[in-house]
Amino acid sequence: MASTLEGTSAPSACRRVLLFLLLLLCFLIDIPYNNIFCVEAAASNEDDAVEHVCRSHVDYNFCRAALGSDPGSRNADLNALGFISLRLVKENVTDTTLFIREELSRERDEGKKRALSQCLGAYRQAADDAEDARRALSNKNYQTMSIEALAVGGAAEGCDRAVGGFAGGGDPIRVMNRDLDRLSEIAWVIAVNLR
Ligand SMILES: *[C@@H]1O[C@H](CO)[C@@H](O)[C@H](O)[C@H]1NC(C)=O
Repeated sequence: MASTLEGTSAPSACRRVLLFLLLLLCFLIDIPYNNIFCVEAAASNEDDAVEHVCRSHVDYNFCRAALGSDPGSRNADLNALGFISLRLVKENVTDTTLFIREELSRERDEGKKRALSQCLGAYRQAADDAEDARRALSNKNYQTMSIEALAVGGAAEGCDRAVGGFAGGGDPIRVMNRDLDRLSEIAWVIAVNLR
């Protein structure tokens, strides 16, 4: 079990629980998020929000490439970047859902089919969470946005656990799970910064 679940899934589950508890703590005692998350506070004259966000991301290069894929990110403020990040999340969820559905239709092994069905469920949940995060951002409810962004990452992780028994770390679905996890983390960093 342990060897097939290698990669990011266990530590990142742990990290997510910690983040969630920290969020709750912040909420209860009402201190600025960036103090305890070591997310650098935005300088008032910040002219490159992408740089600012990606410096707080676990994978700087991934973050820059993802946000940079949208030309609108160049002069975007944090709020606009929030919408861009959630659009990227949604597109990823849609593409990956199609991929999983395709795999499922070809799969003959019952165990794998069950795992892929679990993934479809997880990605359906991720689509809802991403939409909730977008709505929260529109309503300037950054607390909810951050929680929904974490939930998207949780869904990717759920799928990763489901397929981890038979798919190696380089398997396309697992790469897609990792991409979604990292994309959702961009939205999370932005939510924390906006608060
Ligand atoms: C998900 O997003 C990442 C980063 O933008 C991208 O590299 C990857 O191709 C996307 N995957 C899918 C399945 O859309």
